[in-house]
Amino acid sequence: MTTIALLPGDGIGSEILDGPLAYLRRLRSDGAPLTLTGPHPYGTTGWLRTGSILPPETVDACRAADVVLSGAVGAHPGVTSAQCPNPEAALIELRHIFDLRVSIRTVWVPGDGSGDVVIVRNITGGAYASPDLRQESDGDRAAEDRVVLEPDRLREVFAIAAGYAARQPDRRAISVDKASVFATSRLWRRIAHESGTAFDDVNVDRAAYELVKYPELPGVIVTEGIFGDILSDVVCARAGSPALCGSATVNPDRAFGNGVTALFEPAHGTAPHRTGGRRSNPTGAWLALADLLDWCPDLQPLGLSRAVRAALEATVADGPPTYDLASDGATGLSDMDQFNQRVLGYLESASQTSRCG
Ligand code: IPM
Ligand code: MN
Repeated sequence: MTTIALLPGDGIGSEILDGPLAYLRRLRSDGAPLTLTGPHPYGTTGWLRTGSILPPETVDACRAADVVLSGAVGAHPGVTSAQCPNPEAALIELRHIFDLRVSIRTVWVPGDGSGDVVIVRNITGGAYASPDLRQESDGDRAAEDRVVLEPDRLREVFAIAAGYAARQPDRRAISVDKASVFATSRLWRRIAHESGTAFDDVNVDRAAYELVKYPELPGVIVTEGIFGDILSDVVCARAGSPALCGSATVNPDRAFGNGVTALFEPAHGTAPHRTGGRRSNPTGAWLALADLLDWCPDLQPLGLSRAVRAALEATVADGPPTYDLASDGATGLSDMDQFNQRVLGYLESASQTSRCG
């Protein structure tokens, strides 16, 4: 039995999960081995409800769960940044509490046949070190963020990236660093070379240029946390929308039964100005769900991840597009609910076909 804790977060975070949630509920009533808990508040919504961006009850719910499905965390309509200055810290803290130390993002490039781009990076340690290692400034004193990378942690990141590279042997796999400047990057490069996989070394500035300029995208990018945060958004721009990225932060030990082993979310932000409009493209949330279904040992054998991806392909292929993917002047656009209905329809007919077959 897999327990999934729902942490919708802020802004469009809640509405963006509606489609994936409808599917999970349908799977549960069809007998799939899963339990849903929540919604549990965190981020600005946690602060609004309880005064804390990461309420203890939400952490307890994560201790009692196997995985988290999240929406987005950050700015929320009606709350100023003076009132709730850094809601994203709740997500960062959650990653530290459960040692979700590797980030795996899949940017989906629909339709053009070039395929997904997988970005693997360390997401605790490095530039995303624990908040206690940071020195805040009062405006006079210096501020400090230290970047420390442990070789064993990097080996683990490279092992995961190598797995993705092996699945796409015809595509380029790149290791991105800034070895001309950082000692951490020189260690990064050394471990890349020891990894046994032929990653091309690319400096981060050059990587940004190539990702914008070259028609062909690499299949795998392995890089330090902050570089990957930036470059994954660059790849999203190439894919056509920030909504085309599912994001997972995982504990590679995969020790189920001791609290959450991974958190899945779309990579986009909370879009406070769009909140409630139900027009946002929910693809990232569906991609996050597909990754979740693949991660959990009780759910993985059901083949649901592949079904979700096939339903997304079909939904995008037979249009109408959501506003973010529409060409100028396009009419009859799909909103979130229409998009979800189409995905759910494809999933339903796929499951009927498999039952009949
Ligand atoms: C992302 C975001 C987060 C990150 C923030 C909200 C902490 O930018 O998921 O890409 O940097 O990891
Ligand atoms: Mn980001």
